[in-house]
Amino acid sequence: MATVEDRLSEMIAAAESARARAYAPYSGFAVGAALLDDEGRIHAGCNVENAAYPQGQCAEASAIGQMVLGGGRRLRAVVVVGDAAEPVSPCGGCRQRLREFGAADTPVILAGPGGVRARHTLGELLPASFGPEHLT
Ligand code: THU
Repeated sequence: MATVEDRLSEMIAAAESARARAYAPYSGFAVGAALLDDEGRIHAGCNVENAAYPQGQCAEASAIGQMVLGGGRRLRAVVVVGDAAEPVSPCGGCRQRLREFGAADTPVILAGPGGVRARHTLGELLPASFGPEHLT
């Protein structure tokens, strides 16, 4: 099976394409995300804002919806693309959303217009987390 590294440029391209479709008229801050599932498929999403501001949805949440719709259940890697002074990292709520489908060692790769800017794991971003196994 191809490694995450093998698929990284494809994931970044998918996240960039999604970012180009972001609906972010209020913040003006477009974000794209791409998820690699355990069957090697890539699912992308963009942020979708709303005039009722708290109802806006992050790119990661949109991508998770796409993955679930496509039958994906396990995450192998996450790419987030945004353009800011600091690498654009998933918000707290999205860290928990990703954790539902990922593992502590799932790579979360932060990219910008110039390429990869930072690499983390989900466990680093959300240590000592609560997950589905707590409910079984
Ligand atoms: N946003 C994302 O979509 N993903 C992130 O990882 C960080 C923030 C969105 C939410 C909102 O539409 C805009 O960026 C500004 O916060």
